[in-house]
Amino acid sequence: MGDVVKIASLVKAYSDGGRVGPITLSVKNSEVYGLVGPNGSGKTTTLRAMLGLLTPTSGSVEVFGVDPFSEPKKVNARVGYSPEIPTFPPFFTARKLLEVTCKLKGMNAQETKREVERVLDLTGLVNHAERKVASFSKGMVQRLSIGQALVGDPELLVLDEPMLGVDPVGRVHMREVLIEQRKEGKTIVFSSHELYEVERISDRVGMVYMGNTVLEGSVSDLLRSQDGRSVVEVVVKRRPNDEVRAAILRISGVKSLNVGDNSIWVELDNAHDPREEIAEVLVRSGCGLIEMRLVPPTLEDVFVRVVKQGVNS
Ligand SMILES: Nc1ncnc2c1ncn2[C@@H]1O[C@H](COP(=O)(O)OP(=O)(O)O)[C@@H](O)[C@H]1O
Ligand SMILES: [Mg+2]
Repeated sequence: MGDVVKIASLVKAYSDGGRVGPITLSVKNSEVYGLVGPNGSGKTTTLRAMLGLLTPTSGSVEVFGVDPFSEPKKVNARVGYSPEIPTFPPFFTARKLLEVTCKLKGMNAQETKREVERVLDLTGLVNHAERKVASFSKGMVQRLSIGQALVGDPELLVLDEPMLGVDPVGRVHMREVLIEQRKEGKTIVFSSHELYEVERISDRVGMVYMGNTVLEGSVSDLLRSQDGRSVVEVVVKRRPNDEVRAAILRISGVKSLNVGDNSIWVELDNAHDPREEIAEVLVRSGCGLIEMRLVPPTLEDVFVRVVKQGVNS
């Protein structure tokens, strides 16, 4: 199936001089799409544009083939949204908030009752349903916000920093919720400034930097593009001295070297696999060799490389 979201050369110029764009990206049906980039790079602006919550200065946005600015109702009926900073009336209980959300989505009393139970169960808030939101931790507010987005079982979820303020156990659960939604054929777009988080659950990612999309692709393709920039981590008995370091740097295929107390990290270029020679140097010099492993590339490596290339060109 085709693209659920299509953004072409979107530019948003804020009145105070802030500017985002051009942003170009597409989200395919039934995929988890991670929008990633440092704070202030334009993620929230891009997600808000998908919901018709801001007027673009130029460019186009289509969600389910519809322009969300001119026809927000058509789009919103099929989308669940969790904003970056969810704010709820503090005197509402979790149950009350979800009930109101169901009513706003046009559900009757019976549908509301069923839907509230389903969402409480999905988000793990069953035991907190009667508590006032004012007493909720950041992580619980985040869960409730995701719950609100899930109301009505929408086809597309747009989640702005869903892992923000969520503790490690909550994160595991949140990932499970998102993966379950994808299994059901839902499309998910979420933003995060944590590349590690994005790498774990996304099928594809879009990277934004200083207001521009700098890269888009499947996680596996992007990681493959890092081939030849692998790093070997070596655990040693004794810290290598200058002479040993120089000997390692002389080995063909070694690009750079970082030395810690009991570990060294050797960056390789792809031309030649120097692992055996590194091992020989270490053993011969008395540094010893306890363990050696190839560290797989991460999205962070990809991001740093792309950003550096952009700065240098
Ligand atoms: N409501 C706003 N008014 C003025 N400037 C804004 C507003 N929202 C965002 N910006 C500016 O747009 C840029 C991108 O912000 P944002 O989309 O929030 O990025 P991110 O979500 O990646 O942190 C920033 O420079 C920010 O200052
Ligand atoms: Mg943001």
